[in-house]
Amino acid sequence: MTQTAAAAGRADAYSIPLDKINVADPALFRDDTVWPYFERLRKEDPIHYCKESQYGPYWSVTKFKDIMSVDTNHKVFSAEARDGGITILDNNAAVSLPMFIAMDPPKHDVQRKAVSPIFAQENLAKLEGLIRQRTQNALDALPIGETFNWVERVSINLTTQMLATLFGFPFEERTKLTRWSDIATCELGTFGIETEEQRIKEFQECGAYMSRLFNERAKADPQPDLLSMLAHSESTRNMTPEEFMGNMVLLVVGGNDTTRNSMSGGVLALNQYPEEYRKLCANPALIPSMVSEIIRWQTPLSHIRRTALQDFELGGKQIKKGDKVVMWYASGNRDEEAIENANQFIIDRANPRQHLSFGFGIHRCVGNRLAEMQLRVLWEEALKRWPKPGQIEVVGEPQRYFSPLMRGFEALPVRINA
Ligand code: HEM
Repeated sequence: MTQTAAAAGRADAYSIPLDKINVADPALFRDDTVWPYFERLRKEDPIHYCKESQYGPYWSVTKFKDIMSVDTNHKVFSAEARDGGITILDNNAAVSLPMFIAMDPPKHDVQRKAVSPIFAQENLAKLEGLIRQRTQNALDALPIGETFNWVERVSINLTTQMLATLFGFPFEERTKLTRWSDIATCELGTFGIETEEQRIKEFQECGAYMSRLFNERAKADPQPDLLSMLAHSESTRNMTPEEFMGNMVLLVVGGNDTTRNSMSGGVLALNQYPEEYRKLCANPALIPSMVSEIIRWQTPLSHIRRTALQDFELGGKQIKKGDKVVMWYASGNRDEEAIENANQFIIDRANPRQHLSFGFGIHRCVGNRLAEMQLRVLWEEALKRWPKPGQIEVVGEPQRYFSPLMRGFEALPVRINA
C-alpha cells in the first residue's frame, strides 16, 4: 500500500460512525487497509457489534486479553459446526462439515488425540531431513536475476510437498491437495468457485480420493502418516463419511494455506524492514525467533469464530445466546497493550512466541511446531544460498486474498540478486 492510500484508509477508519464499521469486509484485507479500523476498535470499542454485514450481524473481539478469554472459555463460546462453525461465514459448505476444530468436548478431545502423535517432537525430528532436502531442491531450482512468483515457486510448492508427506498422498498427484485447500476457504467468486454447490461438488472428489486411501491404509499395517493413524485409531476409524470429509478438509487447509502464507509473508516483511533483514544476515541464529515473529506479523488466519451458548457479559457488553463472536487474531497481535511495538516487525523480540496466530485453549493449533520447523528450515537454507541483506528482493506489489479469513497472497513478485 502506498503512503497516500494508507493515510486515506486511516481517515476513513476514523471518520465513519463506529457502528458502521465492518472489519470483515474482504476488500479491507485485499487492500491491506484493515489496520486503522482494528486500531480504532481496540481503542474505542474493543468488543464491537456490527449489525449489518455480508456475513450477518457479529461481534468483533479485538484486544489480546479478550481474545484469550473467549478462546479459553469453550463452555460459553462454542466451536461446533451445528452452532455455526469457526468462520464468520455460516454456510461455507466445506468448512461447515463436522471436523474436530469445529467440535466441542468430549468429541473434539478424542479426535484431536488421534492425530496428535504425528506432530510430536520425535516424529517431527524424523521428518526434518526430508523437509530440508525438499526445501533445498525447491530453492536450487529458482532462477537468479529474474522475476518470479515466490508464492507459487516456493510457498505453494513446499507446503504441498509437505502435505503429501503427512498424508502419505501419491506424490505425483499432490497438486490436488493445493486445489482442495484453496477452494475450502475461498470467497465465492474466487478460485473459479461461484456457488456452495460447486464447492461441495469439487469436494466430493477429495472425499472419494481420501476414502480410497483411508480404506487401503485400514487394511494395511499402521504407518506413520495421518490417514493411517486415523484409520487405526479407536476414536476415528468409524467416523461418519461427513466427519471423515470434515477432518480431511481440516488437515489439508490447516497444513497448507497457513504455512504457505507465512512463507510469503516473511519475505515481504524482511523487505519492508531492511534493518531487520540486515540483523538476520549478521546473525542467522535469530532464525527461530524470526519465524515466530513472521507468524505473528502475518497472522495467516485473521480470525476464528465462536457462537455464544448462553447470554454472557464480555468487556461490559451483553452478548446474547446464539450470537456470532469473532476473535480477530490479526488485531490482537497488533495490540500495543500486550505486545511492545506491536506494529513493528522485530526479529529479536524477548518473547517471540507470545502471539495469537495459533489460537489458545483446547483448539490451539496442533501443527504449530511443524509449521515453525518448515519455516525455520526454509530460512536456514535460503540464507545459506543468499546470505546478503536484500538478496531476496520483492520487486512489485503483492496481490492479496480477498478474504477476511485467510490472510495471504496470490502473488508476490520476487527477484534473487546474485
Ligand atoms: C488449529 C493456525 C499450521 C493443523 C488452528 C487454529 C489456528 C491455527 C488459529 C485454531 C485455534 C483455535 O481455535 O483456538 C495455524 C497457523 C499455522 C498453522 C497460523 C502456520 C503458520 C498448521 C499445520 C497443521 C495444522 C502445519 C497440520 C498439518 C491444525 C489443526 C487444528 C488447527 C488440525 C485444529 C486443532 C483443534 O481443533 O484442536 N491452527 N495453523 N495447522 N491447526 Fe493450525
